[in-house]
Amino acid sequence: MRELAYIGLPMLMLIAGCGTTPPRERDISELSGVEMYEQLCSSCHGVSGRGDGPVAPLIAVGVPDLTRIAYRNGGEFPTEEVRRTIDGRWDRRAHGARDMPVWGWQLYDSSAPNDANERAQVDSMIDRLVVYLRSIQAE
Ligand code: HEC
Repeated sequence: MRELAYIGLPMLMLIAGCGTTPPRERDISELSGVEMYEQLCSSCHGVSGRGDGPVAPLIAVGVPDLTRIAYRNGGEFPTEEVRRTIDGRWDRRAHGARDMPVWGWQLYDSSAPNDANERAQVDSMIDRLVVYLRSIQAE
């Protein structure tokens, strides 16, 4: 069973009032994009993606509206950039604070026997999230 190392998350979910949801019955790697989004992202980015999650007011830099990524990029959804932003392992902004969890690490199960397989698994989870985000872009 994959355990999320990110201890802030249960706390955030508690604040968000999601504490009543039963703990993950399924390994998170089996979830669809929307299910992962609801569990991992909506506390900050909001259920609808508009940056209005219950935790958002606590984040000084502000939480971006994820339905307007394409809009902000001249109408084109920058798939690769979004993937890298979520993964975070390749964040080009080498310096400066990052308020977004580094999901490439958070989702990685270090007890997995095979590093290459585990990386592929994490990449697949992030791909599902990216596909979901692409599907919620505002016209
Ligand atoms: C703890 C709050 C928090 C959580 C949870 C969170 N994010 Fe974020 N996210 C942020 C903040 C704050 C930013 C603004 C940029 C930064 O700090 O890096 C951001 C930025 C982003 C961006 C870049 C948006 C843009 O306009 O370029 C994407 C994409 C994104 N988040 C996706 C996700 C996904 C997918 C998840 C769940 C797997 C998630 N976030 C979970 C706080 C959060």
